[in-house]
Amino acid sequence: MSRKIAILPGDGIGLEIIAEAEKMLQCLQHDFGLDVETETAAIGGAGFDQFGHPLPESTLALCRQSDAILFGSIGGPQYDSLDRELRPERGLLGLRSSLELFSNLRPAMLYPQLASASSLKPEIVSGLDIMIVRELTGGIYFGQPRGIRDLENGERQGFNTLVYAEHEIERIARSAFDIAMLRNRKLCSVDKANVLEVSELWREVVTAVGRDYADVELSHMYVDNAAMQLVRAPKQFDVMVTGNMFGDILSDTAAMLTGSIGMLPSASLDKNGKGMYEPIHGSAPDIAGKSIANPLATLLSVAMMLRYSLAQPELANMIDTAVGNVLNQGFRTADIAAGGNAVSTVEMGDAVVAALRAQI
Ligand code: IPM
Ligand code: MG
Repeated sequence: MSRKIAILPGDGIGLEIIAEAEKMLQCLQHDFGLDVETETAAIGGAGFDQFGHPLPESTLALCRQSDAILFGSIGGPQYDSLDRELRPERGLLGLRSSLELFSNLRPAMLYPQLASASSLKPEIVSGLDIMIVRELTGGIYFGQPRGIRDLENGERQGFNTLVYAEHEIERIARSAFDIAMLRNRKLCSVDKANVLEVSELWREVVTAVGRDYADVELSHMYVDNAAMQLVRAPKQFDVMVTGNMFGDILSDTAAMLTGSIGMLPSASLDKNGKGMYEPIHGSAPDIAGKSIANPLATLLSVAMMLRYSLAQPELANMIDTAVGNVLNQGFRTADIAAGGNAVSTVEMGDAVVAALRAQI
C-alpha cells in the first residue's frame, strides 16, 4: 500500500535541500520500487506569507493524514518583528505538539572521512557515535504560565515555566532505553537535579523505568558537566536522554563534534512511530539561494524516515552507504571542505543519487 509523505520545505535553505531530497525520493520510487506518494505544503515563514499563519490549517491536516513528514527549515530575518505567535518557529513547535512528536532522536556520528573537519582533535572524535534522545513536546518550551508581565514597580518581567509530569518523563525514558537496547546499552540521563525539583522527579522516574531494562547501564549527569564532557571526552557516551531545552543545546554541541551541523539528521516520533524528519541545522538565511548548503543532513533524514516510519531498513542503509561513498569519492560542500574544493548543493545531491543507483 502506498504510504504518504508530507513535504514541508519551509524557508531559507530549506527549499534547496528539500529539492535534493525530492530528487532522491524520485530515484527511490523509479529505480528501487519505493511506493510513496508525496504532497508539499507551506510552513513557517512560507506559511505566513501564503496563509497568514506559520502553521496553516491545511498543512496541519496534510501532516495528520500522512505517514511521515519531511521538513526542511524555517525562519528568516524578515519575520523577526512579527508577533511571537506568528513567527516561523511557532509553525515547527505547533507541529511537534499537535502531532505529539515527543521523542526526538538526534544522532551525532562522525564520518571518518570528515575527522579533520571537526574542531576537536581527531583522536577525541574518531569513531564518535552518539544518539541524543531529546524530549520534544514538554518542559520549558511549552510550560504554562509564560509571558512578559508588568510589575508594580513599573518594570517588565519575562517568565516561563519548566514542568514535566511523570508520564512525560516515563515515555521519553522508555523511548531512550529501547534505543539503548538496539545500540551499546549505555544510557546517560542528563538533568540539573542539584538545583531543580523538576530534575529531581526526572531522575526518580528515569531510574524507576530503568528497572525494566536490567541490560542497560544507566548513569545520570548534570547538564553543565554533560556539556563539558561532550567536548572533553565525547566517546564515553552511547545514548543520552534529556529534556527539551537541555537537548536543544547539547545536540548542537554534539553536532559540531562531527565537523558540521550540515551533516546531522533527526527524527521526531510519536508513540506509534509516525514521525517528522528534519536536518537539525536551521534555515541559514545568510547562505540561502546560493546553492552552497549541504544537503546531506536532509538526505540522511530521509534514511531515518525509511527506517523508523516506512519500514524500509534496506533502503535506509543504502542511503547511508551512498553518503559514505560520496564522501570517499571526495565530494564536499563548503561547510565540510576545510578550504578545499567545494561542490554545490545540487552537485552533492546528484552524487548521492548516482551512488545510490550504483548499488542496484
Ligand atoms: C531545533 C531548533 C528549534 C528548537 C527552533 C527552531 C524552534 O533549534 O530544532 O533544535 O529550539 O527546538
Ligand atoms: Mg536547536
